[in-house]
Amino acid sequence: MRKKIIAGNWKMNKDVEESAQLLEELKKQTLAPGVTAIVCPPYTSLTEAVRILKGSSIQLGAQDVSLQDDGAYTGEISIRMLKSAGCSYVIVGHSERRQYFKESDELINAKAKKVLANGLTPIVCVGETLQEREGGITEKIVTTQVKGVMAGIPAEDAAKVIIAYEPVWAIGTGKTASPAQAQEVHKLIRTLLTSLYSATVADEIVVQYGGSVKPDNAKELLSQLDIDGALVGGACLKADSFAAIVNAC
Ligand code: 13P
Repeated sequence: MRKKIIAGNWKMNKDVEESAQLLEELKKQTLAPGVTAIVCPPYTSLTEAVRILKGSSIQLGAQDVSLQDDGAYTGEISIRMLKSAGCSYVIVGHSERRQYFKESDELINAKAKKVLANGLTPIVCVGETLQEREGGITEKIVTTQVKGVMAGIPAEDAAKVIIAYEPVWAIGTGKTASPAQAQEVHKLIRTLLTSLYSATVADEIVVQYGGSVKPDNAKELLSQLDIDGALVGGACLKADSFAAIVNAC
């Protein structure tokens, strides 16, 4: 049985005070014990998150990482900084980074390797745009992305990677992929991982779904055979809806 993992990607929301409020509320929620719950607040709220979440089972993640270790890279945050701030997870290659910051599969692959090499867990995002889905090339796009982001990652590390399938057309739009649509792509990813590694490794890799996951659609999505969790945007900004998604597992 694969672990169920729910991560909340806060994106560029919540200042320090608002973050503290949300984290305090999250701490009061009862969360299903068998599920790993992760919050990924903005960098500026990470230390506050560590302070507030002390003694809680909720894990901490970051939304991106620099490829560089240190030095003259204004505005960047290194993996060592994230580690020392208390992060165990790092989202890499989110579609918003691909779209607005032109991140390529190659760069995302290098970031995933950097995260793994430092003992943290990358949550690597893939997913097709609306145009690509309508053009009938979802399979081709997702296959290229998964191959690209996993390139050169050995089997023993591959099992530690979390893949998040986030169809771009479902992000922040309220349009969720139907459970069957999502399962179809998750199965494709699992089959691809089997051919890249082995059935045993593919079976261990957690593949999350992301894109307008809400308390009222989480249960059906999460009950699909190859959907092992969710990467949640909008609905993670309220403690009760995030908790409801965790508890829908
Ligand atoms: P929404 O849940 O707001 O659609 O965002 C999904 C997402 O991009 C999570 O990384």
